Amino acid sequence: MTDRVEDYIDANQDRFVEELKQFMRIPSVSAQEKHDADTRACAQWIADHLKKLGFESGLIDLGGKPIVRASRKGTSSKRVLIYGHYDVQPEDPVGEWKTPPFEPTIRAGILYGRGATDDKGQVFTHVKAVEGLLRTEGELPCDVIFLLEGEEESGGDALARYVGQAKDELKPDAVVVSDSTMYDAKTPAITYGLRGIIALEFTIRGPASDVHSGAYGGGVANPAMVVAQILAACVSRDGKTLIPHFYDDVVPLQDWERESFRKLNFNDETLAKELNVPRLHGEGGYSTLERLWARPTFEINGIFGGYQGQRSKTIIPAWATAKITCRLVANQDPARVRDLVIEHVRSVCPNTVRLEINEFGASPPVLFDVNNPTIRAAQEALCKGFGHETVFIRCGGSIPVVSTFVEQLGCPVVLMGFGLDSDGPHSPNEHFSLDSFRRGTKAAAHLLRTI
Ligand code: BES
Ligand code: MN
Ligand code: MN
Repeated sequence: MTDRVEDYIDANQDRFVEELKQFMRIPSVSAQEKHDADTRACAQWIADHLKKLGFESGLIDLGGKPIVRASRKGTSSKRVLIYGHYDVQPEDPVGEWKTPPFEPTIRAGILYGRGATDDKGQVFTHVKAVEGLLRTEGELPCDVIFLLEGEEESGGDALARYVGQAKDELKPDAVVVSDSTMYDAKTPAITYGLRGIIALEFTIRGPASDVHSGAYGGGVANPAMVVAQILAACVSRDGKTLIPHFYDDVVPLQDWERESFRKLNFNDETLAKELNVPRLHGEGGYSTLERLWARPTFEINGIFGGYQGQRSKTIIPAWATAKITCRLVANQDPARVRDLVIEHVRSVCPNTVRLEINEFGASPPVLFDVNNPTIRAAQEALCKGFGHETVFIRCGGSIPVVSTFVEQLGCPVVLMGFGLDSDGPHSPNEHFSLDSFRRGTKAAAHLLRTI
């Protein structure tokens, strides 16, 4: 059976892609001050785009980056809140891009550029879905409110504060988020769990300045060595953290989850090849999907300090720093885990150096019950849009504001992502399949009709 909305989406696909490219050309890097004006221009661009489609649309300023809010009434009394983020990650290392990050380019049916998959391309599926519904049916099947934030990638809380203030007026029946992944390029998925995160940095300070390692080596603690020793005391070689009580609150996987992960037939060798590593690594006793989706981790994001230049330089560095994050799973509390990590680091740090700790934001994990009519509607919409069975997955990443939606709005949240981990979000040559863009747009339109 042909479907007028699907036909509209097919017929207008080329224009949709051109518009998405315009959206992607605006370098809305929220982490960098030099892009503040661009980030605001990007918010204005998407707000204006939604206004032209017939939405009441504008920017909300609560400090931090502007929130785009666009709403339009529909024919039923149901209301869907669509969340996404228009900010993107920094483009570095810029030399590794085959084509420039903010000059979107299509190669072999794939759109390359910063924000392609995370999250501009995914946001745009919903924007074009409402366009399709409005142009073919004249009105929307339900009320739609877009809330698009500009600080997802940089730890801002403007949207969380807004949702807290506006919850009685927002009152959605469902929240829909496309900022996660499918299971693979063919298989659409509903994500029912996201990991949480805490981010810390610790600096070890030794001598007041770098000193001669011959004159003083053996007589004074080496800050870089102390950082290495502290980190080694945090994780064992088989991938378990050594932080006391770290795992206390972790909700174990349920039998149906283990079974459903197993049925996905995940292939470790394929992933090892994709990542170009000799073999995978992680906590013993768990399959790879279990480790990625349902186990907490301790990761080092960067270690620095000491001499980084050419050849060698014989010094004991004055300081060394490690940036770390822990991914958390239900039912871990970010504040409690942060305290456990800090306490452990303090306890293993020798008294021959000074320790400084900085904290950078935290967000709780989420885990949804999949037995509700909204999730079933999404499952049906995905099957229609992609012409393929839909599976339930969890994702290893974090979307901080989702826990705020859960706590403040008390309605079901549907995470239906159209990206792939291999799309290179946060990496050079980030990309998004135009096939997923088109099918995702169709699925988004079907969802608004079935919800
Ligand atoms: N879209 C990602 C989250 C994501 C990644 C979900 C992979 C599912 C699979 C999001 O934009 C992101 O990058 N989040 C950050 C949050 C952090 C900056 C607090 C993350 O997970 O590192
Ligand atoms: Mn994202
Ligand atoms: Mn991201």
